[in-house]
Amino acid sequence: MEKKEKLYEGKAKIIYATDEPDKVIMYFKDSATAFDAVKKAQIEGKGIINNTIASFFFELLKEKGIPTHYIKKLSDREMLTYKVEIIPVEVVVRNLAAGSIVKRLGIPERTPFDPPLVEFYLKNDELHDPIICEQHIYAMKLAKPEEVKKMKELALKINDILKEFMDKHGIILVDFKLEFGRKDGEIVLADEISPDTCRLWDKETGEKLDKDRFRFDLGDLMEGYEKVLKKLKGEN
Ligand code: TMP
Ligand code: ASP
Repeated sequence: MEKKEKLYEGKAKIIYATDEPDKVIMYFKDSATAFDAVKKAQIEGKGIINNTIASFFFELLKEKGIPTHYIKKLSDREMLTYKVEIIPVEVVVRNLAAGSIVKRLGIPERTPFDPPLVEFYLKNDELHDPIICEQHIYAMKLAKPEEVKKMKELALKINDILKEFMDKHGIILVDFKLEFGRKDGEIVLADEISPDTCRLWDKETGEKLDKDRFRFDLGDLMEGYEKVLKKLKGEN
C-alpha cells in the first residue's frame, strides 16, 4: 500500500490517496479545535489515541455487522479506509441531555432521552453546523429519504452496541456524532468515533472524559482519553 497525494485536510485529520483508487489513508493529527476552531491547541499524542480508540470502535461495530469505511489500522496515526462520498449531514444521537441541547432547549443536563434522540446538523463550518430537519435534507438534496432512513436506523443500532459495551466497561455514552458516506451506492459509517466526537462520562464518578475537557477547561484532555482507552480494554 503506497501513500499518495493529500486529498483533503480537516481540523483533526488529513486524507491521503493510495495506489488503490477505492482506498484512502486517514491521518489523525494532534490539533484540537472547539467552537468552530475559535479555540485551538496542539495536544501531543491526541491523534495517536484517537486513531487507537476509533479503530477499536470500528472493529467492534464491524464485528456486529455495521457497514463501515474502516479496513484496518495501519500505524500509530494512520487508518486505511474505503474512499466514500461523505454525506454533509452530521448525525447526533443523544441518550442524556448535554451540550447544545441544554443551551438550545433549556433541558437540564443529564435528562434521559428514552428512546434516544437522533438529530441532524448541516456539515458547514461557515454556517456553524446548524441543526436541520429531514425536510431540509431533501430540499437541499443532501440525501434521499431511503438514505436518511438507513442513517437513522444505523445510528440507533450503533448507539445500542456502543452504549451496552461502554456501560459494561464503566463509561456512560451520553451522546455522539456520526458521519455517513456512500460506497457503491450503499450507506456506510465513515469519519471517526472517538472522545473528540462523543460525550463519555465515568459511570462511577461522573467525571467527563471527552473533548468537553478541552472545550470548557475541565482538566487535562489526554488524561481523560487515556482513562477511556484503559476502560475500553478492561484495564480498570
Ligand atoms: P453538541 O451537544 O455540541 O451538539 O454535540 C453533540 C455531540 O456531537 C457531542 O458528543 C460532540 C459531538 N460533536 C462533534 O463531534 N463535532 C462537532 O462539531 C460538534 C458541535 C459536536
Ligand atoms: N469540532 C468543532 C470545531 O472544531 C466543534 C467541537 O467539536 O466543539 O470547531
